[in-house]
Amino acid sequence: MRLNNKIAFVTGAGSLDGGVGNGKATAISFAREGASICVVDIDERAAKETEKRILNAGGTAFAIQGDVTDLESMENALKRCINRFGKIDVLHNNVGILKAGGVSETTVQDWDQLVHTNMKAVFLPTKAVLPHFIERRSGCVINVSSIAGLRYLGAPYIAYNATKGSIISFTRNLAAEQAPNGIRANAILPGFIDTPMARKSITENSANPEKIDWPQIDRQRAKRIPLGRVGTPWDVANAAIFLASDDASYITGTEIVVDGGVTCTV
Ligand SMILES: NC(=O)c1ccc[n+]([C@@H]2O[C@H](COP(=O)([O-])OP(=O)(O)OC[C@H]3O[C@@H](n4cnc5c(N)ncnc54)[C@H](O)[C@@H]3O)[C@@H](O)[C@H]2O)c1
Repeated sequence: MRLNNKIAFVTGAGSLDGGVGNGKATAISFAREGASICVVDIDERAAKETEKRILNAGGTAFAIQGDVTDLESMENALKRCINRFGKIDVLHNNVGILKAGGVSETTVQDWDQLVHTNMKAVFLPTKAVLPHFIERRSGCVINVSSIAGLRYLGAPYIAYNATKGSIISFTRNLAAEQAPNGIRANAILPGFIDTPMARKSITENSANPEKIDWPQIDRQRAKRIPLGRVGTPWDVANAAIFLASDDASYITGTEIVVDGGVTCTV
């Protein structure tokens, strides 16, 4: 129970199509470690599903519909979380959207949408929670970036990769700025993780979506991964538990790569 008595606000904690993405796995794992969870998602039904799963397992959760790209929505969600649980210890910024394409294929609209969502997803919830963290002289922010923010991974995702790289920079700046207030900020950089959103992206970019052979795709992807398997959302959640816990109390302004070794080789 490494997160006993902690309150965590997890964004994008629902998941597409009733599956388990990184946000949902992190919310469930935090609850297993003793934290009470504000399950925040733009999709209320998905947030309620995660809430139900945590409650059924004997944990504590509160579903809140909220949009991370809207400051007022985040301020309201944080207020509801504090009214319910009295405080917030951990802000886990998980929301991020994906769009394939290089500079030529990416439209200005696509670019604006990714910058808008992926950058505001870390900026606005942090902006909303900061007065509370500063008042308490304590707080932990975890931003979900990607190894795509470090380097090109073999296919063009210019807007996605640029925003994920910016999240690393945002996190380091936040950590330096807020360390004197007792606030920590770190990033998690997942590699190839099997989530509903990743499958949706593969499907959207396939010439024959109905004929996708998922075991074959997993085998192909696994060949690029030194540890020999695609990651799971639970692998990402395990890194988040560590960063959220007091075991990481001297760790700020850094990144944990959760990629089975991909970035050692490319
Ligand atoms: N899946 C991967 O391979 C992979 C790899 C590297 C990084 N990541 C990052 O992990 C994070 C989570 O990705 P995932 O694939 O696990 O998806 P996920 O299932 O955790 O997140 C999707 C959830 O976010 C919600 N959401 C979308 N826009 C929102 C908004 N504006 N406000 C609130 N909620 C919103 C969706 O409704 C959905 O429930 C993303 O930041 C992604 O970039 C994923």
